[in-house]
Amino acid sequence: MASTRDWFETVAEAQRRARRRLPRSVYLAVLAGAEAGVTMNDNVRAFSELGFRPHVAGLPAARELATTVMGLQVSLPVLISPTGVQAVHPDGELAVARAAAGAGTVMGLSSFASKPVEEVGKATDKLLFQCYWAGSRDDILARAERARAAGAEGLIITLDWVFDHRRDWGSPWIPERLDLRAMLRHAPQVAVRPAYLARWVRSGSLPDLGVPNSATGDAEIPGFFGAYGQWLGSDDARRAADIGATAISVSNHGGNNLDSTPASIRCLPDVADAVGDLLEVLLDGGIRRGSDVVKALALGARAVMIGRPYLWGLAANGERGVGNVLEILRQGIGETLYGLGKASVHDLTRDDVIVPDGFTRTQKP
Ligand SMILES: Cc1cc2nc3c(=O)[nH]c(=O)nc-3n(C[C@H](O)[C@H](O)[C@H](O)COP(=O)(O)O)c2cc1C
Repeated sequence: MASTRDWFETVAEAQRRARRRLPRSVYLAVLAGAEAGVTMNDNVRAFSELGFRPHVAGLPAARELATTVMGLQVSLPVLISPTGVQAVHPDGELAVARAAAGAGTVMGLSSFASKPVEEVGKATDKLLFQCYWAGSRDDILARAERARAAGAEGLIITLDWVFDHRRDWGSPWIPERLDLRAMLRHAPQVAVRPAYLARWVRSGSLPDLGVPNSATGDAEIPGFFGAYGQWLGSDDARRAADIGATAISVSNHGGNNLDSTPASIRCLPDVADAVGDLLEVLLDGGIRRGSDVVKALALGARAVMIGRPYLWGLAANGERGVGNVLEILRQGIGETLYGLGKASVHDLTRDDVIVPDGFTRTQKP
């Protein structure tokens, strides 16, 4: 039974608890990143370079956080970004879906998720399904159709791909399937994380490294690396320009791809200027507090998406931990709006933030 002792007050604390609870290789898989972690760290650091212009007179009595994204009502401008990490918690994506629904926001479900989209679709009515440009056009259509039948309201098309497998802090060994050999190899790490093991024992199952939403028709569920290989061999991602997108996310995949690309928040103003009146512009990467959300909104995002924060919350405390992370952000957004003297997320403008010289990165050569 969860108690108030399980409640954490910051995303940083959720990360500390995840690190304490997870076997090292699982923790490293969630941390991800690439090479020296320049982009992953810049995603977070860049937010601290932005300042606020506070207002302390005539403060509004209440603050409005609700908005819409791709036609879906959300009670706060924070969405669950799709992540394909399994084995963080036995309830996995079902816990995330329930927490997102409880918080009144949208969940993006990864193609590399460990739970079938049909099950996740029953846990929330605000679901987007994430597809990679992987396999044939018919394969992609079949996956999208399957997700739609399961209740997904829209698609997230991820165009970038992770090609870099080196990390200065070490990469985890992830087995294709959790067979006896893999279990023996992981046993020493799991033995020093008894609470993690106990959760799986209680759930009566083992971490399943299959990728059920990548299967089409009656085909066997591929393993993680089987699906991953298909993705890496995929066709030219630029064909996605033909898709009539309603929204884009300014993203560098959480710093997991080409290291030394700038923090996504540095590119947001330029992208918002270029396409903000044609598309809904979202941002993901480095959001760790409500004030980060407000900074992104002020610089032109309609909403943001989060990855690692909810995975750490999931690892720390299952569904409640994910809800805890969303609540931290909700409170932080409200407090920041209050400090800025704003009644609504819709009232934020660039004048609310102080952007230092040289902060933004332009996409132009
Ligand atoms: C461990 C991990 C797994 C991810 N898996 C996916 C995925 O399967 N599909 C996808 O579109 N993005 C994936 N992403 C990227 C996230 O959706 C998101 O862009 C990123 O995590 C945002 O940065 P943040 O973690 O700093 O919030 C993954 C990110 C991480 C950290």
